[in-house]
Amino acid sequence: MPRLNRRVSGAIDNPKQKRAYVRELFTAVAGRYDLTNDVLSLGLHRRWKSKLVRTAGIRADHRVLDLAAGTGDLAFRAAALTNGTAVVAADLTPTMLALGQRRGGAGLTAPKSGVVWAGADAAVLPFRDGYFDRVLIGYGLRNFADLPGSLAEIARCLRPGGRLAALDFGLPRSRFLRAACFAHLELTTRIAGWLLHRDAESYVYIPESLRRFPEWGPLQEMLVEAGFKTCQKRQLALGGMSIFTAVRAAAPTAEVRS
Ligand SMILES: C[S@@+](CC[C@H](N)C(=O)[O-])C[C@H]1O[C@@H](n2cnc3c(N)ncnc32)[C@H](O)[C@@H]1O
Repeated sequence: MPRLNRRVSGAIDNPKQKRAYVRELFTAVAGRYDLTNDVLSLGLHRRWKSKLVRTAGIRADHRVLDLAAGTGDLAFRAAALTNGTAVVAADLTPTMLALGQRRGGAGLTAPKSGVVWAGADAAVLPFRDGYFDRVLIGYGLRNFADLPGSLAEIARCLRPGGRLAALDFGLPRSRFLRAACFAHLELTTRIAGWLLHRDAESYVYIPESLRRFPEWGPLQEMLVEAGFKTCQKRQLALGGMSIFTAVRAAAPTAEVRS
């Protein structure tokens, strides 16, 4: 871990290095990932994830992709709502997927319809055009090395009218609240790093990646450029968390193209 923490700034500023860095980081923290979420959010991430899944408006016949699925928290919630259609959980880091698979296999939260696990980079998704009705992302967007390319891939895999719903840390508009959010994040990540890994710097990547994440305006422009419309941001926890939703626009008609 200390070796990874020292590299954080240089590595995540370079898209090519960021992909390898993120994969290495999540391989290193995978074993304690679920516990870390509980410690950092005092268990509230469960409530925010349930809210995200409700916001996505999943129907029983929907095909759902949980992208950057990690250990599958969103996939399991979605699968409990679908009826016999397997939810696909896709992630870049094999160790995270393996943990999710084991969790499902142990029957702890395994729903009737099941979850199918797939190794995949968000920027090159191995799914056919328009296959999914819903794409869910929990704490994933911030980690994508190629955010515009990944949004374009997500749009490609969604049917027109299909919906993307993503949860991530947010930044309140007020400068005071924003500074308070960063101070809170710096402190809690250091405490969690020390408690869980005996290394206060273990989760320095979280505030660093948030600092580099686009503001809502530029993110909205990226979504529209990628093929989305009706982009919305909803704030939770005084703006410290956000749910982003966007609807896949219909392909341009021949008239519009000409
Ligand atoms: C913070 S975890 C989120 C896990 C889970 N969605 C949750 O809400 O608890 C971020 C996940 O994003 C994955 N990830 C990062 N970059 C990715 C990419 N380019 N494509 C797919 N998954 C990626 C990581 O491997 C990691 O499992």
